[in-house]
Amino acid sequence: MEGLRGKNVLVTGGSTGIGQSIAIRFAQEGSNVAINYRSSLEEAKKTEEMVQVCIRRVRECGVKDLLVKGDVSKEEEIVRMFETTIEGLGGLDILVNNAGIQTSGASDEIEIESFDRVIAVNLRGAYICAREAIKHFLAQDKEGVIINVSSVHQIIPKPKYIGYSASKGGMQNLTRTLALEYAGKNIRVNSVGPGATITPINRAWIDDPEKRAEVEKHIPMGRAGTSEEMAAVTAFLASDEAAYITGQTLFVDGGLTLYPDFRSAWSSE
Ligand code: NAI
Repeated sequence: MEGLRGKNVLVTGGSTGIGQSIAIRFAQEGSNVAINYRSSLEEAKKTEEMVQVCIRRVRECGVKDLLVKGDVSKEEEIVRMFETTIEGLGGLDILVNNAGIQTSGASDEIEIESFDRVIAVNLRGAYICAREAIKHFLAQDKEGVIINVSSVHQIIPKPKYIGYSASKGGMQNLTRTLALEYAGKNIRVNSVGPGATITPINRAWIDDPEKRAEVEKHIPMGRAGTSEEMAAVTAFLASDEAAYITGQTLFVDGGLTLYPDFRSAWSSE
């Protein structure tokens, strides 16, 4: 895609799932890639394996790579992550806010810490990362791109996932507001809205054929998406081929946002 070769990209939550595919896709397009990952003690071994897979695939493309550890729910870790990335790659042109989590529970019962945690990672973390990226673009007086990995739940309510729904709904106006505020500075801000995608966040159904069929029957195109399909659209939105697009969310969802229940004309028959 036009305009990605030699660009410096930071992908948050880049060691697994959609983030990993995004990191690899940018490397295939000739971009230098900083891969952010967070590792808790319990997850350390598994995370280490995923990070190594990702870094190997990026390196195979012959671009610069950098691993940056950091928790996007912590402002000081984000600031450090940007310093390390900008120093390590020699600047930053594209930020992909991909890190995300979800927790579930009836909305009248969940602990407020659970709600706060999801907002802190998915929305507040994405905002602080965007703020740091924009500061850098402005200081260097150069154009920049931010892509937020949102969700179909930016517009489709998700009962029992109130934190997730609120965070992705908020991401829509994070995208639109920053896009408007910085359009005159050549900074573009867009979102990708994945539908059900085969990644670790969906471990509850991806390896169980019956549960997976149950999920996929709700999708107009009849199948879940792949992380590579999300990565392709992320790369497109970051490329010069999308040079005139800002403030938009491109849903990549096999038709999930098309009100699938209206496949039949039940409301008129
Ligand atoms: P995933 O669980 O593989 O990826 C999430 C990544 O975020 C992981 O690498 C995780 O370590 C990282 N992360 C979590 N908390 C973090 C923190 N505090 N600091 C830094 N990194 C952190 O799941 P997936 O599916 O790849 O999710 C990526 C994004 O795509 C998320 O924002 C998710 O909401 C979004 N999405 C995923 C869909 C799906 O069906 N898989 C559908 C719609 C949106």
